[in-house]
Amino acid sequence: MSAVWAFKKSLARILFAFVRKSVPLAYAQDGLISLHSHAFMKDAGFERAYARGVAAIGGRDLYEWHWRIHVGLWAASIARHLPGDFVECGVNKGFLSSAIMQHLDWNSLDRDFYLLDTFSGLDERFVSSSERDRGVLDKNARQLRDGFYVAGVESVRENFAQWPRAKIIQGSVPDTLPEVKSERIAYLHLDMNCAPPEVAALKAFWGRLVPGAPILLDDYAYIGFDSQRLAMDEFARDHGVAICSLPTGQGLLIKPPGLRG
Ligand SMILES: C[S@@+](CC[C@H](N)C(=O)[O-])C[C@H]1O[C@@H](n2cnc3c(N)ncnc32)[C@H](O)[C@@H]1O
Repeated sequence: MSAVWAFKKSLARILFAFVRKSVPLAYAQDGLISLHSHAFMKDAGFERAYARGVAAIGGRDLYEWHWRIHVGLWAASIARHLPGDFVECGVNKGFLSSAIMQHLDWNSLDRDFYLLDTFSGLDERFVSSSERDRGVLDKNARQLRDGFYVAGVESVRENFAQWPRAKIIQGSVPDTLPEVKSERIAYLHLDMNCAPPEVAALKAFWGRLVPGAPILLDDYAYIGFDSQRLAMDEFARDHGVAICSLPTGQGLLIKPPGLRG
């Protein structure tokens, strides 16, 4: 499993490098090849925010998540005009959340950013049987081993120390959901790489998400993450809403103004 995964990763990297060399204008990284403009990458505000995300993971951009981060910053910039706190479930070292806090000058805002994570990888209790069959637990062990997943909260606390209203909540979702005390939530990012805790979080927060709040689902359209997409689609159907599938692999849902429940 591990060798196959590493092989696929290297193959993708070679393909992306080849496309970038042959078509210098193309965006080719992080699962996405596009000839559309990605001029946002040259925007000074974006560059500063992205650099803060990179600082959160140790100063080297091993992810190349530019378009994903662009979407996250856009969602946060909408949420900034809504009342309420921000919540992220699945923080890891804090790439996206640090970029957002930098971008919005968080200390100038009167709100909390709740950051929920085990800070030690997935919790086996909350992995579905289809995810187990797909090897999610092996992948989790590998990601902890190779340092992609943080193993401990101390470095994360240091990263967020400049923002007193970053509320770090260590533990497993859904166990920790009651620790989010906000009555109103303006932004929700779900990025735990497994369906059950993500659905539990969305159910728990749905009633407190304010009208117009963006809900960003990091893994919604990722190949191999079908159980997350199917679970989120079921939630969306049950609530009379629809999720927009983005070419970055993310899903985007807006809590419709005027919706009850
Ligand atoms: C892909 S990473 C998140 C990346 C992060 N959003 C960023 O911007 O870098 C997934 C994270 O979800 C966390 N996680 C997985 N299952 C969890 C659960 N049940 N409760 C809390 N955190 C969980 C893992 O510990 C890991 O840090």
